[in-house]
Amino acid sequence: MKEKMLKKFEELYGAGGDIRFYFAPGRVNLIGEHTDYNGGHVFPCALTLGTYAVVRKREDDVLRFYSMNFENRDVVKSSLKDLVFQRAAGWTNYPKGVLWAFTSKGHPIDKGLDILVYGNIPNGSGLSSSASVEIVIGVMLKDMFGFDVSMTDIALLGQYAENNYNGVNCGIMDQFSIAMGKKDHAIFLDTSDLSYEYAPIVLAGKKIIITSSNKKRGLGDSKYNERRKECETALVQLQTVLEISSLGELTEEAFENAKEVIKSPICVRRARHAVYENQRTIRAVQALKDHDLNLFGQLMNESHKSLRDDYEVTGIELDTLVEAAWEQEGVVGSRMTGAGFGGCTVSIVEESAAERFIAEVGRKYKSKIGYEADFYVVDIGDGARKLA
Ligand code: GLA
Repeated sequence: MKEKMLKKFEELYGAGGDIRFYFAPGRVNLIGEHTDYNGGHVFPCALTLGTYAVVRKREDDVLRFYSMNFENRDVVKSSLKDLVFQRAAGWTNYPKGVLWAFTSKGHPIDKGLDILVYGNIPNGSGLSSSASVEIVIGVMLKDMFGFDVSMTDIALLGQYAENNYNGVNCGIMDQFSIAMGKKDHAIFLDTSDLSYEYAPIVLAGKKIIITSSNKKRGLGDSKYNERRKECETALVQLQTVLEISSLGELTEEAFENAKEVIKSPICVRRARHAVYENQRTIRAVQALKDHDLNLFGQLMNESHKSLRDDYEVTGIELDTLVEAAWEQEGVVGSRMTGAGFGGCTVSIVEESAAERFIAEVGRKYKSKIGYEADFYVVDIGDGARKLA
């Protein structure tokens, strides 16, 4: 890929100078969904799929962007003076948002850039292709301009850009896991204080299979922000009787004892998901430490049911995929992953059953939904980095 990207870079922008190469992965969350903006735990891992970027500094303030994923489009030209969100700027709003975030947070960018990217994360599938672009740009800026920022800072700057430039009110999970990923490990992250621990994922004869529903979703126009508000409402009402600063501080029991103060039944269900899912995530990581993969799988299944019934973010496509997966032999666990409303599911499947899983779940999906699902047998990779 590198050769192909370099060739295209030189063709578009000319040869010579200090051309550098970077990578940031996509991510899949194993358990802990819609907990990251509720002060709870998440358990994501980085993939080996991701976004590559080839970059060279310029002498002026011009910015040029090109994506090899949209080869019929021209180079997009902009400038450091023009870092404002514009719908028409399309995907370049992600890198521009990160340039803006660095600049606004005291890391001024004083030279333009020629940027070429290529990504092999299925687009809009809920594997965080946008956060992957943000973090590849963050790692590049740190390296090119010598900024003294940690990988956690880069994750926070990416989230700041997503929230305040692109207007998507996401939590920290995606940017953090992409920045901090570690091969063959998932990250047990406490989003209340960003403390984390790497947990080895030893699958012994099993595979992680991601299934894309091919139902596209955009967080901006989804009900993501509405779910956040419902959780905030529940929290404010709980705070009239409990001294807590987030739903993540509650055990199931403490929640059950106090839930009467939440006025709307919908908000009760949203908060119940946030509380139970957080506790489930803590238990799931313990199950892995105890080498109890079956319990881990059961907790994944329960997570899906809670996202379906209490949080209502699954929809017929994801439910069809997961319910078909549960019926297959050799499936340890299966659930939706990411924001929901379309996107992907994640399943842990016996290697010997993987082929049949793909055929059977694929067949059931097509016959019920009318179009194909796509399957990816994935590996857990390292976080964002400069490449040689
Ligand atoms: C999206 C957001 C994350 C997280 C998940 C749901 O991926 O970007 O911050 O909230 O949804 O767990």
